[in-house]
Amino acid sequence: MAKIGFFDSGVGGLSVLKEALKLLPNDEFYYYGDSANCPYGIKGEAFIQNRSFEITEHLVNDYGVEVVVVACNTATSYALSYLRSVFPNVSFLGMVPAVKPAAATTKTNVIGVLATKGTLNASLYKQIRDTYGCGSTIIEHIGEGFVELVESFDISGQHAEQVVEDSIRDMVLAGADKLVLGCSHYPFLKDTIEMVANRIRPDSTPNIEVIDPAPAIARHLRSVVKETGFRTSNSEFPNVKLESSGDDSVLNNLYKQCVTNNLII
Ligand code: DGL
Repeated sequence: MAKIGFFDSGVGGLSVLKEALKLLPNDEFYYYGDSANCPYGIKGEAFIQNRSFEITEHLVNDYGVEVVVVACNTATSYALSYLRSVFPNVSFLGMVPAVKPAAATTKTNVIGVLATKGTLNASLYKQIRDTYGCGSTIIEHIGEGFVELVESFDISGQHAEQVVEDSIRDMVLAGADKLVLGCSHYPFLKDTIEMVANRIRPDSTPNIEVIDPAPAIARHLRSVVKETGFRTSNSEFPNVKLESSGDDSVLNNLYKQCVTNNLII
């Protein structure tokens, strides 16, 4: 059975865990949400590397995980290479804003990228944007207040819609038909983002697609687990352990909303 660790600055990485559970229903998952230190998006590199190290060490030493999904774009930007160098026996997967599929499918040639300040400033994102998005106009915006909405489980309704509209208005009015969710918290606002975006889009823009990278990361994880030759378990359900450095009620609630399989706490 593969023992797979996940971590994020908070509850956002559950958006990736949810997809992973669909493809790897018989494995063992250990999720760590660093909600006491959320958000990472405004923190410095040294802080993010240090927390990423401590969390990975905990997942490896206390649970014996062999694969770690850095289910956080910001931590991927600042800590993934470092983690690979200090844990050479662990397989790591990270996440970067999905500019590539957006650029391949946009009809208006205008793409909106929503992410944290840290991710948008990182050289990793800039490299991806310049490599795959060079034929399109890319409009970036921090999802101001999005992480706070998700961490407080306030993901729909008038307040959430207003917060979302403030960050997506410029990109939608400029004709973006693809909105890339470059932070793992944002998929929990996907329905709200889609609804607001299509409500305010100009008539000339076709339906707007909001791109959640989680299904693609889950497929990648499945191939890593298969390639590495881990045994698959015989258990009927996955075992999932959720852990938070802060208040774990939102983590548990959000998990129950999105996943209905076994939960071991
Ligand atoms: N969920 C994280 C990300 O994907 C970080 C959000 C934050 O803590 O600022 O970037």
